[in-house]
Amino acid sequence: MLVTRPLAEAWLEPLHAAGLTVDVASRHEAGDPAALRARAAGAAGLLVVLGDHVDAALLDAAGPGLRVVATISVGVDHIDLEACRARGVRVANTPDVLTDATADLAMTLLLALTRRVREGEALVRGGEWQGWEPGQLLGRDIRGARVLVVGAGRIGGTFARRVHAFGARVSYHGRSPRPALDDALDARFEPDLDPALGRADVVSLHAPLTRETRHLLDARRLALLPPRAIVINTGRGPLIDEDALVAALRDGHLWGAGLDVFEHEPRVHPGLAALPNVVLLPHLGSATEGTRAAMARLATDAVVEALRGERAGEFG
Ligand code: DGY
Repeated sequence: MLVTRPLAEAWLEPLHAAGLTVDVASRHEAGDPAALRARAAGAAGLLVVLGDHVDAALLDAAGPGLRVVATISVGVDHIDLEACRARGVRVANTPDVLTDATADLAMTLLLALTRRVREGEALVRGGEWQGWEPGQLLGRDIRGARVLVVGAGRIGGTFARRVHAFGARVSYHGRSPRPALDDALDARFEPDLDPALGRADVVSLHAPLTRETRHLLDARRLALLPPRAIVINTGRGPLIDEDALVAALRDGHLWGAGLDVFEHEPRVHPGLAALPNVVLLPHLGSATEGTRAAMARLATDAVVEALRGERAGEFG
């Protein structure tokens, strides 16, 4: 089987323990689709990550012996699920284990942005701080803020609980109501996104990336947000039209944005890096030691099960 890039040896241990022959592509090959295709030839399993594009060409390069693609991510937008299905290849992802870490990171972005942590730290580190000032770097309160969670699945629902504990008023948009959130958080289900945006001081994106959700927040929808609204995205970059986001941040319609994901990763829109009212992180949602180890364990277990002919995950 092929692992598409070097990973911690401990993470690969379950594959070795199962007696699988494990081929690990180099960092260079990982970034080169043609090289990866060549390396995949004859593989029965692929252990992949977000940056890999698992398309029909890669599946065909692996050949008819390919039985499983396991990704160390909950998101599967980098995998052509139809092409896998058509070839009888099971797809396994890593839900649940990253829920808390990713919800925590959404809170981190919200707190860092609303309390102007980046600017404050720069002031202190730059040696320019002159002492306490009543009007210095005033931020925004989370208590009482109207927070709209878009995509109230596992991660969105957990973020909703966190932000509710900070005193926010929570609403959520998704395919269907979540009575557990309604009851526990006094949350409001918003079936229609457009009017919901008009009532949100903060919108936090947790929806999966699909054809339908690409550019979910475009220029028109960003304009529906009240002036000085805040956008948080720990889901997928292409959920937002980044050109439109930069324009809305530049012209002051938005107060700020906290982004862990970008439309064209790892490229970041040059307009974003130039703005003071953004917090930008390199897709760290699930990046804790325990979470990443648990994700690797789920993915490698799925490979082992599939190659033993057992169940291999939920998309198979
Ligand atoms: C995922 O697993 O899809 C996350 O984006 C990784 O942090």
